[in-house]
Order: sequence, then structure tokens, then C-alpha cells
Amino acid sequence: MEVIIRPTSEEVSLLGAKIVSQLLRTKPQCVLGLATGRTPLQLYTELIRMHREEKLDFGGVTSFNLDEYVGLPPDHPQSYHYYMQENFFRHVNINPESVHIPNGIAKDIRAHCEAYEKAIFQSGGINLQLLGLGSNGHIGFNEPTGSLNSTTWVKILSEKTLRDNATHFPTPEGQPRHVITMGIGTILRATHCVIMACGDKKSHAVKAMIEGPLSSMCPASALQLHPRTTVIIDQAAAARLDHQDHYQWVENHKLDWQIFS
Ligand code: F6R
Repeated sequence: MEVIIRPTSEEVSLLGAKIVSQLLRTKPQCVLGLATGRTPLQLYTELIRMHREEKLDFGGVTSFNLDEYVGLPPDHPQSYHYYMQENFFRHVNINPESVHIPNGIAKDIRAHCEAYEKAIFQSGGINLQLLGLGSNGHIGFNEPTGSLNSTTWVKILSEKTLRDNATHFPTPEGQPRHVITMGIGTILRATHCVIMACGDKKSHAVKAMIEGPLSSMCPASALQLHPRTTVIIDQAAAARLDHQDHYQWVENHKLDWQIFS
């Protein structure tokens, strides 16, 4: 894992956006895996700015989102369809036909999950997968103790995740317990994974992901098996890491072509 520590969440987002834009400029027909939640909001804002001010072109991009709530229609304000539309898609020139988000109201959810996994494969695979990190170590909605080799499927949210996300929902009854999510196996097949985490609430999960043992108790630790994962975290999220000096040393000694520019 490449671990990059930045002083603020803003700098984390700007670096994440830079990595996405670098891929887009070298490979305009790329396949992006996208995340929702609080963490990538500023990254999307920066990509929108780059689209407007620097002509960053999303016309050739295909995208696959990580997850969606079961039971929420695309126009539901708490659905990830709605989130993506409002926070990103409607502001850039991505082709709506090239956008994929799991359908939380699919009639046959199991068949839909299999078709979603197949569609990722048929697109040629994800070139860059953006990820956020749950405070319990989840990525996508792959909760602790789940399979580290799973594919897209329906999962039950843990009570911890429900508590973490409760503020997004006006009433507890309206908060779905089930999600469709890419599996850990799906995520590990992406060429490059970029995971961002900010704030002290994420510091335990960050420590377990990077320096802990590979374990389904921290699903994000499966990224230790991935050939190319970039972790971008702010100082608060990095606070519990024992090897911060080493990560800084590695960053200072990158070869020119390894530096994100
Ligand atoms: C969202 C997703 C989740 C979030 C994670 C962190 O698509 O897959 O894994 O990335 O729950 O959420 P925030 O960023 O809201 O702290």
C-alpha cells in the first residue's frame, strides 16, 4: 500500500481529484468505480471545477458505483442514485448511458447483482476504484466478518454503520437495513484502488487497514493484497499509525513517474 498523509481533508480531496484527472487525461475512455458518502464530496466538487475551468472531459468515461440501498428508488433523496446525480453527474458531461449504479428496487435482486458483476467484467474492468472507509473498516458496504472474496451481492448493514449514517435519514424507520454492494473480490479486481479517509473517527479503521493483520474483522485490510492501492488520509485519521515516518520517507523518495502530478 502507498500511504499518503496530508494535513487537511481538503488536501486529501484535492490529491484524490488529481489522481482521477491524471487517469482521464491519459485514458479518456477509462472505467471509474465511484463511492458516495461524506468523504468524496469535495473530490467531486474539485472534478466539477476541473471540468468547467480546465475542460476535463468525462465524455468517454464509464462508471460503476459501489453500492445502493435496497428499497430506495433512484429519485429518493437518500438514494445513492440521487446523491451521484446531485453531487456529480449532472454537473459534468458524462454520458448517462455509461453510468451504472446498483438498482435498489430491482425485481429480482439476485439476478441484478449477478448482471452488475458481469457488466463490470464486460466493460473491461475498473481502472480506478474510489473508496471511502467505514469507521468499522468496511469498504463498499462489506461489513466486518464478511467474505474477503465476495462479488456484488445484497448485504445487511451492521448496527454500527446504521448508527454512523442515521443522521442522513429523517426517521429510523426510513433507514434501509439492506444494501447492494460490490464485493471485496470485485473491488480487488480494479487496477488501482484509491481510498480516502479523514477525521479521528476513522483512525482506528485506518490503523487496522494499513498496519493490522489481514482479517475479515477489518474488510479494508483486504487491500493489503491488492497490487496497487493508494491510501490518502488526513493527519487526524493517521494519528494511530506507528509508521508515519516510513510513509513520509517513501513519499519523499518516489521516482519522477511515481509522483501524482
Ligand atoms: C459509500 C460506501 C461506504 C462509505 C463509508 C464511509 O459508497 O461505499 O463504504 O465510503 O461508509 O462513509 P463516509 O464517507 O460518509 O464517512
